[in-house]
Amino acid sequence: MESLTLEDYVAAIEALIDEGKDAQELVREIVPLKQRLLAGWRNVPESFSEGLGDVPYTRNLLHADAEGRFTVMAIVWGGRCSTPVHDHESWGVIGVLREPVAVVNYKGPEEGHGNLEPLPAVTLDPGAVATVVPPRSQNIHKMLNPTDRPAVTIHTYGDPAKLCRVYDPATGRTKQMELQFHHAL
Ligand SMILES: [Fe+2]
Repeated sequence: MESLTLEDYVAAIEALIDEGKDAQELVREIVPLKQRLLAGWRNVPESFSEGLGDVPYTRNLLHADAEGRFTVMAIVWGGRCSTPVHDHESWGVIGVLREPVAVVNYKGPEEGHGNLEPLPAVTLDPGAVATVVPPRSQNIHKMLNPTDRPAVTIHTYGDPAKLCRVYDPATGRTKQMELQFHHAL
């Protein structure tokens, strides 16, 4: 597989968005680009691990589109950590660089109250790429590192990736969370 630099990956996504592709088309076409991006990376900078321990995982900005149309980031996961249960308003393409990670999807009520039902965890090995598409009520999930070793994943979202809707799985109640980037390339 011919690898892609981050710069070429970003340029290819810009071109797809400029062509007016919808979310489904975008994720379908970004998956092979993400596989080629992963093929060119051995690891992310050591500095991205700084702060692990204070936070379960670090969010590290690789590219922010000037018009806010998409964001590329690396997440470095501490051992045995998990995101909260959340959803995505935008499309997303998630690739695994180091160590297997797992995704647990949830079935739940569209809005408001009622407990969420977890589906069996899906393991994503290094090189694997997963996608999310709207509507957000259909993409409720959490991502976790099932190993004791730091894991690294590369995420591309169709927004600035600064806001997240988090669920209490016992009640289905949601709250908006503001997210920060711990490091940038
Ligand atoms: Fe997610």
